[in-house]
Amino acid sequence: MLDEAKLKTLARKVNGIYEGALVAGMIYLGDELGLYRAMHGQGPLRSEEVAARAGLHERFVREWLYTQVASGILDHHSEGLFELSPEAGVVLAEEDDLRCMARLFDGLPQRTALLAELPRSFRTGIGVSWADAERGGTPERVHYMERMLRPWYEQVLVPRLLPLLDGVVARLEAGAKVADVGCGSGVALVAMGKAFPQSTFHGFEIAPLALDRARENTIQAGVSNVSFFNARDGGLPDDGSYDLITTFDCLHDMTRPDTMAKAIHDALSPEGSWLIVDPAGRGSFEENLAHPLAVTGYASSVMGCLQSGMSEQGGAGCGCFGLPEPVMQSLVESAGFTRFRRIDLPHPMNNYYEVRP
Ligand SMILES: C[S@@+](CC[C@H](N)C(=O)[O-])C[C@H]1O[C@@H](n2cnc3c(N)ncnc32)[C@H](O)[C@@H]1O
Repeated sequence: MLDEAKLKTLARKVNGIYEGALVAGMIYLGDELGLYRAMHGQGPLRSEEVAARAGLHERFVREWLYTQVASGILDHHSEGLFELSPEAGVVLAEEDDLRCMARLFDGLPQRTALLAELPRSFRTGIGVSWADAERGGTPERVHYMERMLRPWYEQVLVPRLLPLLDGVVARLEAGAKVADVGCGSGVALVAMGKAFPQSTFHGFEIAPLALDRARENTIQAGVSNVSFFNARDGGLPDDGSYDLITTFDCLHDMTRPDTMAKAIHDALSPEGSWLIVDPAGRGSFEENLAHPLAVTGYASSVMGCLQSGMSEQGGAGCGCFGLPEPVMQSLVESAGFTRFRRIDLPHPMNNYYEVRP
């Protein structure tokens, strides 16, 4: 016997999810076409004015404006006036504000297209790596990741997080050797390279388009102390020569995080530090369900983290929440590290750890 009330509630929920997917597409368009930026700080505008400011066709803009009012993003005043409130402006138009969320929707068409690849991984057990997800030469996914994280690297990593590590800023100021493994498009290294000109920074990455983009970013930023290496051509040297190694949001994506932890141990000097940033998984599925970003974490995992972690035969496949603090501690201790500390800096998704030999 079906519980009709339960069925109705669920149907309403699923319909809301479907609406959300449609609105996500509308937000993507508003961001991509510069519509939010055209409206930001302008007060109430007519559709003709929005279209003129964004250089677009009025009829399409008007329909888009209707969707934005219907979904509660824009305010509507009488006589066809539409307004992006100052609050909506922060969330959707202020690129450099850490609270801006427009970047979440960047590359949505490319990320949605990736769905067509995923049934294969469910059938074969082999996931799509970050490098394979770039296949076809479209750099959007790299740009998406970069846009997602750049403000954090610039506004939190250098001024707030590095000073919380034991003696690291002093070493960087004096001239240290640093590696960022799984460096993506290199934005963290560029931010650190600018802040610490006496130090040398090396990025290791396996995704070729990310490496191309990283080199481009370095040139654009005019920094000469940052260089990049394809980790497939040989990873970190085992000579204990690095003073600081960082892994930002990538250890759980690796097919062999245990092997990587050992390689990092061998590459670090005895007084060196490893800074790990990784999703703050909890001990069990039930505990993860209470995580405010549980849905985002698990869905991103199916589309990205788990894909990457299972992209080779025998891959560890941690998934987004697969390295909670006790598991992380045991992973690094098995690799030979003796000091492990969670750094007290709040983040909606990640934990920060300082790990030392
Ligand atoms: C979620 S992205 C994070 C990228 C970057 N750290 C950032 O914050 O923008 C994970 C990255 O780890 C890289 N990766 C995965 N396994 C790797 C490995 N064994 N060696 C180096 N990079 C790896 C992927 O190619 C991908 O670029």
